[in-house]
Amino acid sequence: MTQRILVWDVPTRVFHWLQVLAFGAAYLTAFSERLRNYHVALGYILLGLLVFRLLWGFAGTRYARFRSFLFKPGEIVVYLVSMVKGHPLHYLGHNPVGSVSVWLLLALGMFVSVTGVLALQDDAGDLVVELHGVATNVMLGVIALHILGVLMSSIMHRENLVRAMFTGLKSGGAENGIQRTYGWLGVLMVIAVVVFWFVYVRKPLG
Ligand code: HEM
Repeated sequence: MTQRILVWDVPTRVFHWLQVLAFGAAYLTAFSERLRNYHVALGYILLGLLVFRLLWGFAGTRYARFRSFLFKPGEIVVYLVSMVKGHPLHYLGHNPVGSVSVWLLLALGMFVSVTGVLALQDDAGDLVVELHGVATNVMLGVIALHILGVLMSSIMHRENLVRAMFTGLKSGGAENGIQRTYGWLGVLMVIAVVVFWFVYVRKPLG
């Protein structure tokens, strides 16, 4: 029997929305020398969130684990064909096509934040700065596709995936839901980000 079940644990949801805020705010503060300190602080926050997500991909709950959205090329093709036929296969976690944008965003986010940290070094060459900018623009394109994919998937499956990224809930069989939410870890993540922000903005690390 289908019912509302928990799919996304709290740390995965907190990671997602803090990442959106950090990336968005870092982008908006990137073009002003006066706001450079904020830009750098937001970049460190993005890097910290991504390092957490890397660990959570191995230690997290069922649908947060990397192996739950590590699909073979054949599975991506089968999903695409089912989409084109108008009856997309249903996945509780990331679907095979959506997982491509998820992998790309995680990798690009890591690349952008690491090149950002490298660009802060005194001996950083122009190439690092250039790569940082180019990767950010590529990421913006992937984000646009990601949002489009989420909206299309929501329409085709008649399921609001954006709401699910807030509530953690989707429709499915009771036996497929996760048992633990790790709310305390989500609270710790928010506290860590807020504390880092205030400490850094007062006394930048470099
Ligand atoms: C307002 C804009 C955005 C919306 C509405 C949105 C929505 C979503 C939704 C619904 C999912 C879950 C997809 C699924 O059900 O399979 C998701 C996953 C994801 N999104 Fe977004 N997203 C947005 C912006 C972004 C941005 C800006 C980034 C990157 C900076 C991003 C990176 C990711 C990643 C990495 C995941 C995988 C989450 C995980 O497994 O930890 N999203 N997004």
